[in-house]
Amino acid sequence: MANVIVIGAQWGDEGKGKITDLLSRSADVVVRYQGGVNAGHTVVVADQTFKLHLIPSGILYPNTHCMIGSGTVIDPKVLIEELDTLQNLGVKTDNLFISEAAHVTMPYHRLIDQASEERRGDHKIGTTGRGIGPTYADKSERTGIRMLDILDPDGLQKQLRWTVNYKNDILDKLYGLPSLDPDQVIQEYQGYADRLRPYVVDCSLKLYAAYQERRNILFEGAQGTLLDLDHGTYPYVTSSNPVAGGACVGTGVGPTMIDRVIGVAKAYTTRVGEGPFPTELKDEMGAALCERGAEFGTTTGRRRRCGWFDAVIGRYAVRINGLDCLAVTKLDILDSLAEIKVCVAYDIDGQLSKDFPTNARQFARCTPVYETLPGWQQSTIHCRTLEDLPSQALSYLKFLAEAVEVPIAIISLGAERDQTIIVEDPIHGPKRALLHANASNGCPPNSQMSKGLGSGDG
Ligand code: IMP
Repeated sequence: MANVIVIGAQWGDEGKGKITDLLSRSADVVVRYQGGVNAGHTVVVADQTFKLHLIPSGILYPNTHCMIGSGTVIDPKVLIEELDTLQNLGVKTDNLFISEAAHVTMPYHRLIDQASEERRGDHKIGTTGRGIGPTYADKSERTGIRMLDILDPDGLQKQLRWTVNYKNDILDKLYGLPSLDPDQVIQEYQGYADRLRPYVVDCSLKLYAAYQERRNILFEGAQGTLLDLDHGTYPYVTSSNPVAGGACVGTGVGPTMIDRVIGVAKAYTTRVGEGPFPTELKDEMGAALCERGAEFGTTTGRRRRCGWFDAVIGRYAVRINGLDCLAVTKLDILDSLAEIKVCVAYDIDGQLSKDFPTNARQFARCTPVYETLPGWQQSTIHCRTLEDLPSQALSYLKFLAEAVEVPIAIISLGAERDQTIIVEDPIHGPKRALLHANASNGCPPNSQMSKGLGSGDG
């Protein structure tokens, strides 16, 4: 057995969906530990493509328990739409469990998110506008509504009447927006509660039981290391903790229950929303990466900013998350390039540094120091082993592994499941059996699969 955290090692959208999907095959439980409907993941079922924002893609495996942990924030309207879509396509959903302690996104959260972004003007964060920040802000301010609160009709009446009136003051006085009708909000959320009641449990308890039964648990991070509220490029971050440490807090398990942490990084870098991005390419090369990599977000459809791989960020992700290994995705997007650059250090005000500066102002002044490597200028999409790779592609990967100081365990060369190279046992002296990406656990047919390339916000 192995309990594994899969996290994004950059700014999100690294293709975690495909890697999680591969690893879900040998997982008994898949649990999401942070974020809300700002994340997105494209799934193909019975030849139909649709998006999941909250439900882990492990739901497609009938024998896998899927949990939405206490560290997430839940927009019940979106969650119910996802359930309806899955059920209409004949996907079983009774293997879904929702934490009773997860906070609930309310209509005023979405309104405040959008209005405050507008108010910020040039200082805007570029949020997804899905109410994520305000939901987490209420959690910290202790005015939040949790799943267990919406399941208690009397309690909800009292709590929501007060909260909606309080938020109406903010909507009206701060943003000049019309008030919400408390009765309407109460009625709407009572309807959601009736529908979601069967899925709501104490996830921490269920996870502990799975742990004691020596089941494989996969902790699925949304967004990425640099969007972490504490360790990312603040204030251009999301409002939760995608880093590995967030998995324990966001699910109610202890750190000794985690065996392994796998980081996912693209072979280049992308970012959506505002904020500094040292290796960003604002030229034709950036546009070409965007086009070849279909770099448009699942949630908002926004175009992602593209740039070269940044090994300073990679090393930071290794440190902050304690990464055991890396999965490198979208290598094939670089196939046609004659030369590829990798940022190996920053020049900060004339000083060279290989360490990521947590000071946002300093980060904004970083100039990348590049090493240039030869490209391979041939297709890699049919490569299935390291030996199949052109020698320059292999050298590029070795260079990345050395630069970030962690082995590469998985290489992805396309959205399809089989467009993957699994590097056998990449970690010296594994503590316990590594999750095998080719194991099977009620594996859905290929027509029911999640696509790595379409995942993420944007
Ligand atoms: P929020 O999470 O909607 O508050 O947005 C805060 C920042 O995180 C913005 O820059 C978003 O573009 C970014 N963001 C949120 N979710 C994702 C994601 O799933 N992938 C990539 N960026 C994201």
